[in-house]
Amino acid sequence: MRTDIAVLGLTIAAAAALIARAADEPLDAETKARVERFEKGPATVDVSKYPDGIKENYEVFSTKCSQCHKLSRPINSDYAIPEEWSRYIKRMMRKPGSGISTGDGKKIFDFLAYDSSVRKKKMLDEKLAKAPAEEKKAAEDKIKELHDKYDK
Ligand code: HEC
Repeated sequence: MRTDIAVLGLTIAAAAALIARAADEPLDAETKARVERFEKGPATVDVSKYPDGIKENYEVFSTKCSQCHKLSRPINSDYAIPEEWSRYIKRMMRKPGSGISTGDGKKIFDFLAYDSSVRKKKMLDEKLAKAPAEEKKAAEDKIKELHDKYDK
């Protein structure tokens, strides 16, 4: 078995990710339907108009978050609020073999929260309109902080 892995040229982390992916199947019917819906959309984001720092973070996101499923899954998901991204990124980082460091996780968070505030603005505004005042304020503060950090 060890020889097979060596022959395939897989790193331990990549092999673990494959095993983890197999171990995570099958998904419950509801999750399965949801992820299939998410995966139907585009598998890339047009980052040409985004600031350089966000473009760099997109590279980390597209490398790390396409290891176990299509990148279209997060790209077309219903998640848009910074807090939702924080929760899902942590969940993905905890999956065995994800190979996502804390530093990578932060860059991925900045990308997804920034991208949602631009590309998913309508969805984000609708969600925030229904959110409790405190959550809405926290989200708006975080989004402002990200734009102050990255926009020129
Ligand atoms: C080690 C494998 C692995 C990696 C790496 C990974 N994912 Fe996932 N992802 C999964 C699995 C398995 C599911 C199925 C549902 C679940 O377990 O949450 C999933 C589901 C999802 C979902 C749908 C969750 C839902 O229930 O609606 C999103 C969004 C998502 N991933 C985003 C990401 C992002 C963003 C990254 C990069 C930070 C990432 N994934 C990296 C394995 C992975």
